Parts: sequence; structure tokens; C-alpha cells
Amino acid sequence: MIRFRVDEERCIQCGECALDCPASVIAMEEFPRMANEAGCIQCQHCLAVCPTAAVSILGKDPDASTELKGNLPDPAQLTTLIKGRRAVRRYQDQDLPPALIDELLEIACHAPTGVNARSVLFTVVKERAVLHRLREELITCLAQKQAAGELPKGRTGKYLNWVVGVWQQEGKDALFRGAPHLLITSAPADDPCPVQDNIIALATFQFIAHARGVGTVWDGICMMALAACPEVTAKFGIPANHILGYAMAFGAPAVEYHRTVQRGPALVNVVQW
Ligand SMILES: Cc1cc2nc3c(=O)[nH]c(=O)nc-3n(C[C@H](O)[C@H](O)[C@H](O)COP(=O)(O)O)c2cc1C
Repeated sequence: MIRFRVDEERCIQCGECALDCPASVIAMEEFPRMANEAGCIQCQHCLAVCPTAAVSILGKDPDASTELKGNLPDPAQLTTLIKGRRAVRRYQDQDLPPALIDELLEIACHAPTGVNARSVLFTVVKERAVLHRLREELITCLAQKQAAGELPKGRTGKYLNWVVGVWQQEGKDALFRGAPHLLITSAPADDPCPVQDNIIALATFQFIAHARGVGTVWDGICMMALAACPEVTAKFGIPANHILGYAMAFGAPAVEYHRTVQRGPALVNVVQW
């Protein structure tokens, strides 16, 4: 149900909603009208672009949205956030408040998705005790495969052998870097852009997490372990028709970075025609 509604007392008949609709499903007559419900991709651009908050869609009250004017971040501070974010590999041994994790996920689900599919699933470990049990099971699985000579060869095998070795010899958690929480994105394989949607959702989570003082680390090692131990991965409850995006470990950092790193110049290829 699209429920496209226009408050005629507020509408100034500017036509912006019809003009900005990416699917061209709004007809501009005296007032805007939904002309093709089936074609609507539910992006809410009509609600967002209306200068007088006259448009409601999907039952959303435009007055419940955040006004953009005066509420956007300062570009210099956003730049510092982007340049100052680090892969955090030292964490406090405590859980984040569950409400904070929920809030971060609610914000991350605003990330764009191809054709506005919005079907990225956030599989999350909210308690470090759960992550400890998962680590135990994954490392046991990896160690068994190692003993049976069944670990992948090449670089992946090297990393996974290292994960097992440092855990057994030093009690060092190379799998999750000592983080208390884990986030994995997945999306239906037949979505228009599941690979991209999964990664963009995690990137969005990463930045809001860092803005709220929560550290994150993209976890390629975890991805390798999950691929090597599908019998463990199956227990996550991720729907069978989903493809895994990526894993990100996160939690309250036990490290403080004092300045940005200095990268660049960006590798740029300017097109000449
Ligand atoms: C796709 C991807 C996978 C990564 N996998 C791991 C990982 O398994 N373990 C780890 O400690 N860091 C991992 N990292 C973190 C990178 O090593 C880190 O981003 C890079 O060294 C730059 O450091 P910075 O993020 O602090 O700028 C990964 C990063 C990306 C983007």
C-alpha cells in the first residue's frame, strides 16, 4: 500500500514531487496525484523534496522527518570523521548498550540500495559472551580442518593457520580483534544489487558508529573463516537465498587516535573525449 496523500492546505502546487520522482509515477494536475502505484519504488523523494511538508507516503508523517536546514553536519567535521576513522583492533571488555546498537542499525538502514530494494539483513552479535562462543566454535572448526589438511591453500590458508596459531599459543583473538560485537550484512541474491547494498550498508554503519565513539574493523579474516566453516555459518540463521556481504567487528574502543593519517594523492583517471 503506497498511501500517497497530499495536504491541499499545505501544498503550494510547485510540482517538485512529480518532477523529482525517479519512477515518474506522480502526475501533476491541480494537485499532485499518484498515477501508478505499482511503479513506485517507495524512495520517499516526494516526501523529502516537498518544501511545505504537504506530502505523505507509506503512512509516513512528513513532520516526523528531520528538517535538513540547520541540521546538516559541518563539512570540515565530516571530513575529519572520514580521515580520522581507524580500523580499531583494541576493544574494551564490555558490551555496548543494546539500545545503542539498535540505534546504529536504524541509522545504517538509511543507506541507499539498488532500485531501493532495502532488503539488507543485519545479522548482529549483541553480547560478547555469544561472540566468545562463536569464536570457540570457529577456531575449533579451523583447527580440525587444519589437522585434516582441509584448510584452503594460498593466502587464505596462511591467514587461517595464523588465526589458529595465535589463539592457541598466545590467546590472541585475530578472528574478531578482541571486539565484543559482530555485524554481518546479507541480501537476497536476486535483488538488483545485493553485493553493493551489503557493503554500502556496512560503510554507513561504520561512519555513524565512529561518530558515536564506537570502533569498528572490517573483518576479512572472519569472512575467510566463515567460508572455510560453512557448518558454523549455517547456524547464523541467514536465509538460504541471501548472499553474505561482509563482516564488521565493533565495540567500545580501548585505543584513542589523536590525529588523522595522511593519505593521497587520490588515484584519479580523468576522462578526455
Ligand atoms: C575489505 C576489508 C577487509 C579487512 N579485513 C581485516 C581483517 O580481517 N582484520 C583486520 O585487522 N583488519 C582488516 N581490515 C582493516 C584494514 O587492514 C585497514 O582498513 C587498513 O589497514 C587501513 O587502516 P585504517 O582502516 O585504520 O585506515 C580490512 C579492511 C577492509 C576494507
